[in-house]
Amino acid sequence: TTDTAALRPVAHFTAKNSWLNDPNGLLHHDGTYHLFFQTNPHGTTWGNISWGHATSTDLVTWTEQDLAIPFTEDEMAFSGSAVVDARNTAGFAKEGETALVAIYTSAKDGSQSQSLAFSLDEGETWTRYAGNPVLDIGSAEFRDPKVFWYGGDDGHWVMVAVEAVAKKVVLYTSSDLRHWTFASDFGPAHAVGGVWECPDLFPLIVEGTTRTRWVLIVSMNPGGIAGGSGTQYFVGDFDGASFVPERLVDSNDLADFDWLDYGRDYYAAVSFNDAPDGRRLMVGWASNWDYANVTPTSPWRSSMSLVREIRLIASTDGVHRIAQRPVLPREVEGLQVFELSVPSGVGNRHAVVLSGVDEERLVITIDGDDRSISCDRTASGQIAFHESFPSVDWAPLPNGTTDSLDLLIVVDGMIVEIYAGGGLVTMTEQVFPSEPFGSLRVEPLAR
Ligand code: FRU
Repeated sequence: TTDTAALRPVAHFTAKNSWLNDPNGLLHHDGTYHLFFQTNPHGTTWGNISWGHATSTDLVTWTEQDLAIPFTEDEMAFSGSAVVDARNTAGFAKEGETALVAIYTSAKDGSQSQSLAFSLDEGETWTRYAGNPVLDIGSAEFRDPKVFWYGGDDGHWVMVAVEAVAKKVVLYTSSDLRHWTFASDFGPAHAVGGVWECPDLFPLIVEGTTRTRWVLIVSMNPGGIAGGSGTQYFVGDFDGASFVPERLVDSNDLADFDWLDYGRDYYAAVSFNDAPDGRRLMVGWASNWDYANVTPTSPWRSSMSLVREIRLIASTDGVHRIAQRPVLPREVEGLQVFELSVPSGVGNRHAVVLSGVDEERLVITIDGDDRSISCDRTASGQIAFHESFPSVDWAPLPNGTTDSLDLLIVVDGMIVEIYAGGGLVTMTEQVFPSEPFGSLRVEPLAR
């Protein structure tokens, strides 16, 4: 690793001096956004897995806090979620207190089970629950609990987790976070080329209607659309106990399924609990297990994505699709945001070239005949640290695209995020140029 300080993103969260993978425990409470993350407090590669913690009030400036849930001699704290236990269902709070409760996977030799930790001081300090684990099914591959409250005062907690190797999302319900009852399962379905991880389940109103649909997020590694780690989603219904997809496609072609992102670097994406104004805000880990442990940065390794607001759109073909946009409430110094529109009709082929110094570049090709977007990072700077890093990634033109395609491209040090067609298609890519890409040009390409 060379000196890569200039590549450290300014609006994407990175840990100061350590390794980072999945976002965990995304939660809004009392004006503060909490972002917990998988980290190694003693190093820049995966290991000693603990929950780190960062907070923000604007979703672009993050302040790293003390470690929340450290690894112990026999337990690593794998991915999970956090809730505000406003009704004190678990009984951790005393009069006048509110408990934040984290639900994480206790990863031990040959066993994975679900455990609780709670905070009575707004997330500053955390205590493991003495009755852990709260859900143990005797499995070595049972992880990543996402917990949320379903219904009103007479509602209940729902946990969405995975039986990773079986490629199943499993749902449990509880009234007190301590006792869980199996409710249903879903899968295998659609992409099944790797283990299923980090699920999420949440409602969205179909834009411009009053209909609610539920979205089930499933990360998978390997076997993603761009190779290695990838995140797919399903749209359907949920009644508090089971998820029923509204559309299952019988295909062997990964392109026929719904992907949250078509780049190499968007994984383990989950949403905030209790975001204000009914917004659904997501964050993904902007890396890929294929090469995450050897990316050339120091003294940190890996970044989160920007926070993304997601909406559900009824496309012209009747299919419900997710559209995403980055949450950028203000200008951020050092962050480049490009907005442009590129011809995308039949007979058109254009390259959007992001460049820096020494011919280093990322080339995004919009092809109106193939109806595709491709992203080529084979000349983007350092690429030789892993054989699977230099890649040309493919995405479809967003449904409904005709003569022109709008693009929103954010460049933040080592992270490039591409939002196409109102965010119906996104691609997230890491790049390691000698200097961050600062310019963009559009070139017509010969047919
Ligand atoms: C996903 C994942 C999770 C697990 C965590 C361990 O990237 O493999 O399934 O909980 O990372 O760090």
